[in-house]
Amino acid sequence: MSRPAIEIDHLAKRYRIGLAEELHDTFGGAVLSWLGSPLSNLRRLRRLSRFDPGDDADVIWALRDVTFAVAAGEVVGIIGANGAGKSTLLKILSGITEPTAGRAVIHGRVASLLEVGTGFHPDLTGRDNVYLNGTILGMSKGEIDRKFDEIVDFAEVGTFIDTPIKRYSSGMHVRLAFSVAAHLEPEILLIDEVLAVGDAAFRKRCLGKMGEVAASGRTVLFVSHNLSAVERLCERSVVLDHGRIVFAGPTAAAIDHYLRHTLDDGAALGDPQRRPGRGRVRFTRIWAESGGAETVHLTSGGEASICLAYRISGAQPIRKVRVRLGWTNLLGDPLLTCINDLSGFPIPQLPGPEGTIRIHLPRLPLNAGTYRLNAWLKSEREIEDLVAEAGELTVAGGDFYGTGMSIPADCGPLLADHSFEVLAPSTAAGPAGR
Ligand SMILES: Nc1ncnc2c1ncn2[C@@H]1O[C@H](COP(=O)(O)OP(=O)(O)OP(=O)(O)O)[C@@H](O)[C@H]1O
Ligand SMILES: [Mg+2]
Repeated sequence: MSRPAIEIDHLAKRYRIGLAEELHDTFGGAVLSWLGSPLSNLRRLRRLSRFDPGDDADVIWALRDVTFAVAAGEVVGIIGANGAGKSTLLKILSGITEPTAGRAVIHGRVASLLEVGTGFHPDLTGRDNVYLNGTILGMSKGEIDRKFDEIVDFAEVGTFIDTPIKRYSSGMHVRLAFSVAAHLEPEILLIDEVLAVGDAAFRKRCLGKMGEVAASGRTVLFVSHNLSAVERLCERSVVLDHGRIVFAGPTAAAIDHYLRHTLDDGAALGDPQRRPGRGRVRFTRIWAESGGAETVHLTSGGEASICLAYRISGAQPIRKVRVRLGWTNLLGDPLLTCINDLSGFPIPQLPGPEGTIRIHLPRLPLNAGTYRLNAWLKSEREIEDLVAEAGELTVAGGDFYGTGMSIPADCGPLLADHSFEVLAPSTAAGPAGR
């Protein structure tokens, strides 16, 4: 077997809450760190600096004693609840932040696709950023030239390719970042939850492209809350829980472990400062109500509301608001999505500084089962906040059709009003039954 592409050895990362240990968790810093990585970039070593014994309450261990290796050509998933340490791990591997203890060694040219806002220089055009990234990855101008059209086509940024990145919408930004990372032939690709941003068509193309990248023998570390995508792409996965590895092994078993052990703390939205989005508005809490009372148990066909409490920071008005609430199964496959303006409820401006957006479903069209919620909020087409995993809800089988009976849960998740008719050859009969 080939030597490992990634070796992670007793890695730990401690953050001090309140004290901005941001170092360069920012845009410019990320670019600098990319540039700072040796161009030959074949072996990068991040080593333990110092380890203060004086732990106190204002300290968070985002990673603790994390050890694992990834063989060249392997595609490994990393799953875990909000705040488990997934992004921190990828940030250390891509050199954006330093570990507190332990080490991570990477053998090969790395491209990383982290949160929106890292990896590109905002003042440069899309075109210049493509060439800059290619150069950092050790490609010649000729090689990048040959890939260029494919990158732009995949990203669908069209004429914006000659516009500075800072004018891009978050969707365009992610599309170009993904396209660059996937086409510029890195040996190792680190991907953090890109699929959460962007529309369904783009997500589908990303998955297809990632399948190709994986099949071409590249090493991939893939972080996602979309467990179906992880299952499809990764043979092996690591489960993180509060910074520790709690399981590592075949993906199906990892998903099983994760669903059984780590999803029991309800609608923990994680740290808003670490979530994607511009952040002028942030969700502060997400919960379900039925009959005016908060609940985690809803009933098929019953009345249900999902409430999204938000807080606006700053004085700028939040205009042209699009709120999207998604229901998925436990694997993260979308089942039902409510989008205010598309369903006829425009929100021209969000009242501030705090408020609640209530999404009311008079007759919940979901069969008995367990579902997960996700939500995002855009203003003027820019993502402000995105909660990839906003908690879990149980729906109890109910009398959706008013027949005193219910559809078995294994018939699938969706219920819809419908009728049956029996049409005789000569006379079109009326509705069957009642
Ligand atoms: N720069 C920082 N300063 C302080 N705390 C941080 C910083 N970055 C991350 N943390 C904290 O470290 C922990 C791990 O965060 P991380 O972003 O790695 O989680 P994650 O698994 O990626 O979560 P999510 O699924 O929400 O993306 C969290 O408690 C987070 O609040
Ligand atoms: Mg993350």
